[in-house]
Amino acid sequence: MATLLSIDSSGRIDRSHTRSLTKRFRDAWAQANPGGEIRYRDVGTNPPPVVSPQWIAAAFTPAGLLSAEHKRALQYSDEAVDELMSADEIVLGVPMYNFGMPAQLKAYFDQIVRNGRTFQFQPGTSDPYIPLLRSRPVTVITSVGDNNMNPGGTMYSLNFLEPHLTTIFGFIGIRDLTFVRVGDDEHQSQVLQRTLSEAEVLVERIASRRVLQPV
Ligand SMILES: Cc1cc2nc3c(=O)[nH]c(=O)nc-3n(C[C@H](O)[C@H](O)[C@H](O)COP(=O)(O)O)c2cc1C
Repeated sequence: MATLLSIDSSGRIDRSHTRSLTKRFRDAWAQANPGGEIRYRDVGTNPPPVVSPQWIAAAFTPAGLLSAEHKRALQYSDEAVDELMSADEIVLGVPMYNFGMPAQLKAYFDQIVRNGRTFQFQPGTSDPYIPLLRSRPVTVITSVGDNNMNPGGTMYSLNFLEPHLTTIFGFIGIRDLTFVRVGDDEHQSQVLQRTLSEAEVLVERIASRRVLQPV
């Protein structure tokens, strides 16, 4: 049975482009994958805990030596990593906030990028960072206030969102990223209407592919 993990990170509930596009993705995906399972995580309205001294101590303690307090500190991380590993495909809605990802999504990545679970740190070797996850398709749906932040735009050099997402997913082994971009939300221009319409078509096309599960 195929599993889709759908993550939203917009701080908006109404009038969010990324939320309406991930919803469109889920609907098309459910049709294409009857019997498939959709797991939904909303870090926009339910922000993950930020990394604490207890979390850091626990994350660098060998699994066999974890105390009850360590395990409590890692609970969100363990659940989120298990969920990510069981997903065959991911759709992620991400608004640009101040040139990068929203803090609540960064907090999510801080929970799932974990030594011994999603990457292996081998200090002193020629290859010290080994990704531990198999790759899987990720559709990243972004929305920006000014379309010049998107590829080809005059402010693209200020777009730290896409390189950060590509780097952080790649670090744990996920390299199959497709970006679907909405632009110009703050200008409410024709560019917004065009990019939205194109994104709607693209999202349905991507989500309508039947998921081929690894054997
Ligand atoms: C706190 C905040 C920071 C933002 N920072 C930027 C930015 O740096 N560059 C930009 O082009 N748009 C920026 N925007 C605009 C959003 O990216 C845009 O409204 C987008 O559509 C939000 O996604 P959503 O519609 O899914 O909520 C910002 C919006 C907010 C609320």
